[in-house]
Amino acid sequence: MTFVDTDDVSSNPSGNRPFQDVLTARVSRRAVMVGGTALAAAGFLGAAPAQANHKKPKLGFKGVSVSTADTVVVPEGYTATVLIPWGTPIHSGGPAWLKDGSNTAADQAKQIGFNHDGMAFFPRHGLLALNHEYTDAAMIYTDGDTVMTKEKVDKALAAHGVSIVKVAKVNGAWRLVDSRYNRRITGATPVTFSGPVGPDHPELAAKNPAMGTLNNCSSGATPWGTYVTCEENWNQYFGTEDTTWTPTAEQARYGIGRAGSRWHLVDQRFDVAKNPKELNRFGWGVEIDPARPDSKPVKRTALGRFKHEGMTFTEDRGRIVAYSGDDQVNDYIYKFVGNGPWRWHRVRGRSPLDHGTLYVAKFNDDGTGQWLPLVFGQGALTAANGWKDQADVLLRTRLAADAMGATPMDRPEWIAVHPRTEEVFVTLTNGNGGSGAANPRTPNPFGHIIKWRERGDTRFEWDIFVLAGDPQKDPSVSLDDSNMFGSPDGIGFDPEGRLWIQTDVSNSNQNRGNYDRIGNNQMLAADPETGEIRRFLVGPRGCEITGQTFTPDGRTMFINIQHPGEATTFFGTPTPANPRAVSNWPDFDPAGRPRPATLVIRKNDGGVIGS
Ligand code: FEO
Ligand code: CA
Ligand code: CA
Ligand code: CA
Repeated sequence: MTFVDTDDVSSNPSGNRPFQDVLTARVSRRAVMVGGTALAAAGFLGAAPAQANHKKPKLGFKGVSVSTADTVVVPEGYTATVLIPWGTPIHSGGPAWLKDGSNTAADQAKQIGFNHDGMAFFPRHGLLALNHEYTDAAMIYTDGDTVMTKEKVDKALAAHGVSIVKVAKVNGAWRLVDSRYNRRITGATPVTFSGPVGPDHPELAAKNPAMGTLNNCSSGATPWGTYVTCEENWNQYFGTEDTTWTPTAEQARYGIGRAGSRWHLVDQRFDVAKNPKELNRFGWGVEIDPARPDSKPVKRTALGRFKHEGMTFTEDRGRIVAYSGDDQVNDYIYKFVGNGPWRWHRVRGRSPLDHGTLYVAKFNDDGTGQWLPLVFGQGALTAANGWKDQADVLLRTRLAADAMGATPMDRPEWIAVHPRTEEVFVTLTNGNGGSGAANPRTPNPFGHIIKWRERGDTRFEWDIFVLAGDPQKDPSVSLDDSNMFGSPDGIGFDPEGRLWIQTDVSNSNQNRGNYDRIGNNQMLAADPETGEIRRFLVGPRGCEITGQTFTPDGRTMFINIQHPGEATTFFGTPTPANPRAVSNWPDFDPAGRPRPATLVIRKNDGGVIGS
């Protein structure tokens, strides 16, 4: 079973006004067309070009061209090397990766998982924590999954989750090294729950012990040194053969259906008719302490239950703030604000993520916005409207946000906070567009990036940073051949304040139609002050570019190449007999297969990446 983006189908029946409408109104109200430099200079945040001129330009590398080659392209003067591809044993002496897909589930549990995604470097112990989002049956088995077995489900579960490994420069080259911190967290690792939906909550009383994290998309690092991995399209794993089963309204809102992954055929844990409470254990942000290898992952329920793309942490007057997008067409952007300083909770042995308020965003046409509290008893979330308590609000976060009037968005992906200005940037990867208004972004196949600035806890001011796309396909796009891109997904700041943008054009759109000039998925760097954008890297065939983290000196960047060689309409379809049909990156072994992997990017002169 290959899990691909099904996020472009809305499951939101709320009728809340889609963001596309708001964007249309706001763009048409403005005299200045959006995109790139023009907009950033004219934006509400009052960029200061004069001041910028005094400084060394933020982007110092020579941009690269688009590419459809089965290779990684980086600028002159840079080198990208492969680290920890799928299947690498996490301890020396562990089971070696077998290039024919024949490693067992038990082997896989001791190896780096599949489809590397969000990632963070923890410099104190030199640890990389990275997510493994989903698996591809043409790659991880010898014979695909037409015939489903329990061993295959167990292998897939073992290839999901998180890897934590120590990395170090050995003789000048970064590599995985043995340490007591190296461990795997998989779809079967024991987990617990905290916050308003505690471990003994009746809605979590499934028939099997609480275990596993699934569809770990992106992630964030907290100021206290933990890693929060996010559960995105977890609904896909559940199904049933019971034709009398139909989803409840809540299950439908979360995209639960009968078909699922077919894991339910051999593992009743994933049978939604027989074990429906298992559903309630997914859709959370999961906190993992990389420095305590024996600690259990904790699902922090105060952060809400939806399809968390990622989690981005910042601080406001000592309080923890966590942003998270719900990546589906017409879903929402959320913010959690801790009650009181996070250090105050930590010294009392409590998690700052268990105490605070969850909000959902409403974007107004005039460039203002509101954070609507998802608090039992407030607004529409009353007993009279059928809400039981705060745990109920969190278990049904999407429905609570519907009821409060949140703004449906074009697939919110990653969120990044500028290290100095505290502006917040979000990628909206693409969408169906709004309710039919005639405008060039309806539908929105290329996506865009917006930014906002907080005005207290419940207000913000927003603007557009860039409309992505090919200017030959959409004249409202201010990019050109040197920096055009589409479907922005990963986003983040380096220590010097460059904004790194990574793309995930879907397998059906890559290299064709609207995207026929855009090439393979790519990574770009932007100057958030001037709006300048330059293409830095292009990936091999069939992949997306994701994951980004730096050493504190900014001289080593780690990113992930996810799903190289996956089926695309343009390049073809890999099969168990020929898993190399689309790509054979990075090994290029004529009897091997493509492997998701982390890349280490270094400047040949040892300088700061991007400078
Ligand atoms: Fe896991 Fe929305 O990408
Ligand atoms: Ca993503
Ligand atoms: Ca993806
Ligand atoms: Ca994506």
